[in-house]
Amino acid sequence: MATNQLAPETPLHAPKLPLVKSLAESAKLTSIPSNYTYFTNPIEPVASDPEEHSIPVIDFSLLTSGDPAQRSKIIQDLGKACEDWGGFMLINHGVPESLIKAVIKACNEFFNLTDEEKKEFDGKHVFDPIKCGTSLHGRMDTVLCWRDFLKVIVHPEFHFPYKPTGFGELAFEFCKRLRKLVRELLNGISENLGLEECYIEKTLDLDSGFQLFAANLYPPCPQPELAIGIPPHTDHGLLTILAQNEIGGLQVQHNGKWVNVDALSNCFFVNIGDHLEILSNGKYKSLVHQAIVNNKATRISLAIAHGPPLDAIVSPAAELVNNESYPAAYVPMKYKEYLELQQINPLDSKTTLNRVRVQNL
Ligand code: OGA
Ligand code: NI
Repeated sequence: MATNQLAPETPLHAPKLPLVKSLAESAKLTSIPSNYTYFTNPIEPVASDPEEHSIPVIDFSLLTSGDPAQRSKIIQDLGKACEDWGGFMLINHGVPESLIKAVIKACNEFFNLTDEEKKEFDGKHVFDPIKCGTSLHGRMDTVLCWRDFLKVIVHPEFHFPYKPTGFGELAFEFCKRLRKLVRELLNGISENLGLEECYIEKTLDLDSGFQLFAANLYPPCPQPELAIGIPPHTDHGLLTILAQNEIGGLQVQHNGKWVNVDALSNCFFVNIGDHLEILSNGKYKSLVHQAIVNNKATRISLAIAHGPPLDAIVSPAAELVNNESYPAAYVPMKYKEYLELQQINPLDSKTTLNRVRVQNL
């Protein structure tokens, strides 16, 4: 049986939080306000064994080269990366480096708008198409995160802030290219799961899939060992593609340890989200990750989430369920409801997924 707790109520009239960028820049801040203290114990050590903890690298060009032998080899590698890690670095992805850099630069300009200008984009509800804010869920958070964000729904309908000039056009092109990448990756993943090549694309009607563009800004933090950028969590969709400026900070959990994801240029990090875990009936697990902060330079990351259409009801692929040996491990839920649940959950890594997990298997 799935757990079925009631979601906590949202306090409606709490005051708005200041953006962390303004806080960081205000009058020579030397320590963080106490509500940003996340780590009370020394930070957990990061894995250092390069053999055991080197993140898999997938060469995208081999997936589309037209050479069947290369393709089947890379599909195997892709499957292994998904099973062993829940994510991978993606190289030779074909998205021009100049485009990625231009989008990151435009994000920086957006975050440099005055607080007054940004206020125009501060959406209030889960499905407001444009939301600019701070921390995780804003005023609901008990501990605040050292992070400002801009989140925009870019598919099936494209929305975008009209400032700075040209930002929308760049983002449109970037997001279109990422959808194409994700489709190819999901085709490879379908094959690896033993499903027909276009299974995920067709069954989940990716032509109307939900795509969410999130830009994260992590300003330098005077006490990085105490604060967190984003606490451990999994992403809701099928696959998230992450790009970043030259400053690292993303960490992924692997065999119980945190592993740093290097900020390599012209390379994406791709991670599995909860809905690919559900669809694969648990063969792949969504990746627990977090973002830490530093006291030297501003970090910007772009995390573009790709999911099914909002009204899709997702359950494990029938082909992967066998009532005796592989019973369905998750109960069906509408993607839109899942997103609503995730918005109101506290800082805890797999809380939302646990709501649809079948217990006592
Ligand atoms: C996210 C996320 C990590 C990062 O936006 O969901 O996990 O490195 N971001 O910014
Ligand atoms: Ni994430």
